[in-house]
Parts: sequence; structure tokens; C-alpha cells
Amino acid sequence: MPKPRIYVTRMLPERGLNVIKQHFDAEVWPEYAPPPKSTIIEKARNCDALASLLSDKIDAEVFNAAPKLKIVSQLAVGFDNIDIPEATKHGIYVTNTPEVLTDTTADFAWALLMALARRVVEADRYVRGGQWKVAWHPAMFTGRDIYNATIGIVGAGRIGYAVAKRAKGFNMKILFYDVIPRPEMEKELGAKKVDLDTLLRESDFVTIHVPLMKETHHLINADRLRLMKKTAYLINNARGPVIDEKALYDALKQGRIAGAGLDVFEQESTPIDNPLLKLDNIVVAPHISSASLETRSKMSEMVADNLVAFFQGKQPPNLVNPDVMKVKPLSKLF
Ligand code: GLV
Repeated sequence: MPKPRIYVTRMLPERGLNVIKQHFDAEVWPEYAPPPKSTIIEKARNCDALASLLSDKIDAEVFNAAPKLKIVSQLAVGFDNIDIPEATKHGIYVTNTPEVLTDTTADFAWALLMALARRVVEADRYVRGGQWKVAWHPAMFTGRDIYNATIGIVGAGRIGYAVAKRAKGFNMKILFYDVIPRPEMEKELGAKKVDLDTLLRESDFVTIHVPLMKETHHLINADRLRLMKKTAYLINNARGPVIDEKALYDALKQGRIAGAGLDVFEQESTPIDNPLLKLDNIVVAPHISSASLETRSKMSEMVADNLVAFFQGKQPPNLVNPDVMKVKPLSKLF
């Protein structure tokens, strides 16, 4: 039996890539920047599998061109870049990499939160920029306290829960909003479930942990930003389009909220002329919340494990479109 053919859209961390190379006839896009869509389409044409990243658009155009494609194994927990209904319709299995990145991502939400509240990045620029001329002054870089403050968690799934767990250590009052009940947030962490407007009105730190879907696109819009306290901070390391960036710019510029910590943007990479980047009251990062060596290595391993299980005729452990099993049962595939 020839090995199944796979196209891997980027150099994945070694741990997973080695397993993939062992089990598959693999071709890997060697560059740092993503392959053009036309390349993905051309490569997918003859492939049984694709290993994708969140910056690859995988849609009907790809599926229509790839009659042999059976599975897309994505290195990310989010999969809004993949047209899932189309994948299911085409009988293509889609997998992701949940759980292994939960704590790393929660840590980074906290890194943004703490950097904002205690003005770490501004202070760094100040010292390096040669502006630190007076040894100490009581008004120098005064920020806001984190401990005892109120944190509002929008989306209390795995990552939201991990963020809340950390907030407990800071003795914070924890509010959360979710469309799912999440009793563990209340029972285990003493968090309080509230509606989104209440959360926005009462929180000192609002942090976003929902997936990007039709329902969450611009969930934080101009009207909702208007509900936030003037002293409150907004953190987003979920997906950029959950916040209306233009409305956020206006709120920050007019001082209607205190600041924002953003690891994600409506367009990625965000253009250098994004007006948000001109503001002092934001801390930004290039979508790196799960970027620790350990986690990225585990994520790559999961990409490989999903693929290997599937080609052994088993349900891949992290299947995101289980309905596909009705369209193309494993027994018909292998
Ligand atoms: C990163 O944003 C991910 O979805 O894993």
C-alpha cells in the first residue's frame, strides 16, 4: 500500500512533522509566509490529507478541486478559517488541537492584562527612550490594581475557565457570560453568570474567549463598548473580528475605556497604518497566545495523531465535524 499523500502548509514543529513524514508521503511548504491559495488548491488536488494553519483559507474552492481529500488536520483550536459545512458536505473530516494550548493561551491573556494594568510596555519604552531622568516620583506610571478587581470573562469554555482560575489567585470578583450554562465556573471558582451588558458595565477587566462565528462577529461593538467603565480594560486573544476594531479605536481615542490588550486583529497581519497602533493605551502582539515551545510542540503532535488515527480507520480524537461520519462513514473510506 502506498503511503497516503499529505500537503503540509508550513514547517510544523519537529515532533509532529517527524511523525507525519514517517506515516505519509509528505510535501511541506518551506517558507515562513503562507502558500498562496492557488498553491494550496494545486497541491490539494492530488492529496489525501492537508495539514493546515489558521491563516490558510480552506473552503469549497479547495474541496471542489481535491477529489481525493479526506481530512484536514489543523494546528489550532480555532477553525473559523475552514468552511466546516462545506467540508462536511464533501465528506471531509476536520480536526483541531484543543486542550494542549488552554493554559498557555490563558497565561497570555494574563500577560496582556498585567502589562496593561501596570503599564509595563509604556514603562519599558520610557526607560529605553532615555526619558527616565527623575529617580522616583509618586505619580510615575501609576496603573490600576488587579487584585480585588472585577474580571468579566466573555466565553467560559476551556480557556475562559483557565483565565478565571488564575483570577481566583488574585482574589478577583469573577463575572462570566456564556450561551452555555457552565456550572463548573460557579461551583468550582465562585464565578457569577451574568448577561453580557451587566458584565460590561461592572468589570474592570473584560477578556474575550469566544470562538469566531456568525453570532460572535462584532459581539463587542460601539454600543457595547459604551457600556464599559471609563477605567476598564479590554483584552482579546480569541479572534480579531469578535471586536469591531473601528469602534474600539473610537472608544480608546476618546478615553471611553482605559485601554486594550490585543493579540488578534480583524486583519492579520495587521497593517502598520492600523490607527489602533498609534494609540498609547494599547498593548499588542502578533497572534502568539499559544506560542510556547512546549505547547506548539504538543499541538504539532496532535495534528499528527489525528491524521494517523484517521488513516488507521479510527475516528480522529479531535474531530470537529462529527456529522461527516454520516456523510462518509469510516467503513466506506477504508
Ligand atoms: C490560535 O489562535 C488557535 O486557535 O489555536
